Amino acid sequence: MIVRCAVVGNPISHSLSPLIHEQFAAQAGIALSYEKIEGDDLLVEEQIVRFFKQGGRGLNITLPFKLRACDMASIKTPRCQQAKAANTLWMKNNQLHADNTDGIGLIKDLERYLDLTNKTVLIVGAGGAARGIIAPLLTAKAKLTVVNRTFAKAKDLAEAFPSLNYLPFESLGDPFDVIINATSASLADNQLQLPASLIQRQPFCYDLAYRRDGPTPFVASALKQGCLAVDGLGMLVEQAAEAFFIWHGFRPETESVLARLRHSRQA
Ligand code: ATR
Repeated sequence: MIVRCAVVGNPISHSLSPLIHEQFAAQAGIALSYEKIEGDDLLVEEQIVRFFKQGGRGLNITLPFKLRACDMASIKTPRCQQAKAANTLWMKNNQLHADNTDGIGLIKDLERYLDLTNKTVLIVGAGGAARGIIAPLLTAKAKLTVVNRTFAKAKDLAEAFPSLNYLPFESLGDPFDVIINATSASLADNQLQLPASLIQRQPFCYDLAYRRDGPTPFVASALKQGCLAVDGLGMLVEQAAEAFFIWHGFRPETESVLARLRHSRQA
C-alpha cells in the first residue's frame, strides 16, 4: 500500500520536503507518495479536509498557512499551542491533530554546533517564525533577547514570554554568543542592518531561512566577516524527521540526508 503525505504552502514549487521525506521513506522501507499542494488562500481549509478524507496520512504546512492549520485542529500539542502555528497535521480517532516541529528541529540542528546552555542568544525578528522558536530555546536554557525593526512587536512577544529580554535596534551593542535571523529579510533578498560591532565579536550566526542556490544574504555576510554561520537547511531536515516519526513511527537518520542536500546545492 502506498502511504500518501504532502506539503501545503504558497508558493510551494521550491519545497525540498518531498526530496527529504522520500529519502526517509527509503530508510524505513515505506512506499511513500509525497506531493506538493499549492494552497489556495480562499480554500486551504477545504484542501486540507479533502486530503485526509481521501486517505492521506500526514500533511506538512508551510508559509503562509501555519496559523490557519493550527486554528483548524481539534487536538494540538502544547508546543503547537505555544507557537500558535502548526507545521504537521494528521488524523487520529477522526480528529485533526496538529504539532509544530520547527522549534525542536532548530534545537537539534543547533546542537550539531554548540551547547546552548547559558549561551546568550539574540533573536532578530518578532513575527511567526520568532514566536515558534522561543519556547524550545528557553527549554534548552539559552538566555534570550529579541530585537525587532518594529519595537512594539518585540515588546508584545516579551510579554508572552516573561524571561525574554527585548531591546530596540538602537540599543544593540553588547556581544551575543549566537545571533538567529528570524526575519523574512533573507527571503526578500534584503540584508539585515545590524551594528557592525555585533558581528565583529564573531557570534555563531544562524538563519532560519535557506535558499536552494547558495547562502542567504545574512549567512554570506557573517561568513565574510569570519563568523561560523549556517542556514536553516539542517532545521528543515530535522523538523521533517520529527514529522516523519509522528506519522510513521520511524525515526530517520538525518545526517546523510542533510549532506546530500548540501552537496546537490553545490553541484
Ligand atoms: P514570519 O512568519 O516569517 O516570521 P512575519 O510574521 O511577517 O513572518 O514576520 C516577519 C519579521 O521579519 C518581522 O519581525 C519583520 O519586522 P517588522 O515587525 O518590523 O515588520 C521582520 N523583517 C522583514 N524584513 C525585514 C528587514 N528588511 N529588516 C529587518 N526586519 C525585517
